[in-house]
Amino acid sequence: MATVSFDKATRVYPGGDKPAVDQLDIEIADGEFLVLVGPSGCGKSTSLRMLAGLEDVNGGAIRIGDRDVTHLPPKDRDIAMVFQNYALYPHMTVADNMGFALKIAGVNKADIRKKVEEAAKILDLTEYLDRKPKALSGGQRQRVAMGRAIVREPQVFLMDEPLSNLDAKLRVSTRTQIASLQRRLGITTVYVTHDQVEAMTMGDRVAVLKDGLLQQVDSPRNMYDRPANLFVAGFIGSPAMNLVEVPITDGGVKFGNSVVPVSREALSAASGKGDKTVTVGVRPEHFDIVEEGGTNGALSKDAPAGLAVTVNVVEELGADGYVYGTAEVGSETKDLVVRVNGRSVPEKGAKLHVVPRAGETHVFSTSTGERLTD
Ligand SMILES: Nc1ncnc2c1ncn2[C@@H]1O[C@H](COP(=O)(O)OP(=O)(O)OP(=O)(O)O)[C@@H](O)[C@H]1O
Ligand SMILES: [Mg+2]
Repeated sequence: MATVSFDKATRVYPGGDKPAVDQLDIEIADGEFLVLVGPSGCGKSTSLRMLAGLEDVNGGAIRIGDRDVTHLPPKDRDIAMVFQNYALYPHMTVADNMGFALKIAGVNKADIRKKVEEAAKILDLTEYLDRKPKALSGGQRQRVAMGRAIVREPQVFLMDEPLSNLDAKLRVSTRTQIASLQRRLGITTVYVTHDQVEAMTMGDRVAVLKDGLLQQVDSPRNMYDRPANLFVAGFIGSPAMNLVEVPITDGGVKFGNSVVPVSREALSAASGKGDKTVTVGVRPEHFDIVEEGGTNGALSKDAPAGLAVTVNVVEELGADGYVYGTAEVGSETKDLVVRVNGRSVPEKGAKLHVVPRAGETHVFSTSTGERLTD
């Protein structure tokens, strides 16, 4: 087992005008499950391939344990990688597929069999060892691909979207299996996905990348509760956080007919940049619905507090419902998503008055996108 560190690791592809991965700095603890997530083209696979030794590193360094592996060939790094297209050998049995790398490495037959059987037991594949891949389900094939990596007993597992060719239901069950398997084996793992739900449910920590730049590395909880900037705020969470640009007023920011309290420091940080507005973020579950006639906390007593949202679509999910609506903010019409109780969802066309719950608002600089509130 080992730690992994990216130390300002940079990759510029030949002919590229800017780095695909730009000074990536992450320290991964021994036994940790770290997920790299971000939109297509942000540099996830490139980062993983640099760690695997499949891509040159043009600046900075990569270390596994206390070894500098920056310029070592892949075979000397003691890693095993599971790809999106894990292509099992169709003419070989499950056992032979799993043991193939060991056979190439010259390990004797009895030892290979022992390791394969151990891995098969962990992966619940014992009864399939003599089958060919085509006689397995998608999830079982995926486990064989994991088995190939496990038998090698590497210091580090690397996985690049290993679940992307499974159907939605299987993806959910397999992601739990991979996460619990990793915890049992305790092997340091770097896992790439573009799916933020997968990232949040599997990772001990999550690293969000955008355009080759690391935006934030944090536990799933902190990432959700305190996104470091507008990009992370909008990327993590489903449905996404509502982000509304609003004017700065005394002691806070004006949100419809209420004031969202914001610390003096945060406001002066925003004004210091010359900004007249800030961007307020509220997650769909953090709106309180104001009852008819409720004026508590309203700026003007002639109107209900908060923001009037016209209901366009209601998504009923049983326990919860999501209202997709629009509201007039300043002179603009904004789309908003509000979570409501599944037992009392409003009608399409109805008007809801919503107030962001105290302590659950996020404030970002409109000009730089950085977080202003604690
Ligand atoms: N071999 C290459 N030569 C030149 N540019 C490349 C090469 N491979 C990737 N790139 C570019 O580097 C950037 C990062 O690519 P990368 O494959 O790391 O993205 P990714 O985050 O894995 O995306 P996806 O989610 O689509 O797999 C992209 O802009 C891509 O076009
Ligand atoms: Mg990729």
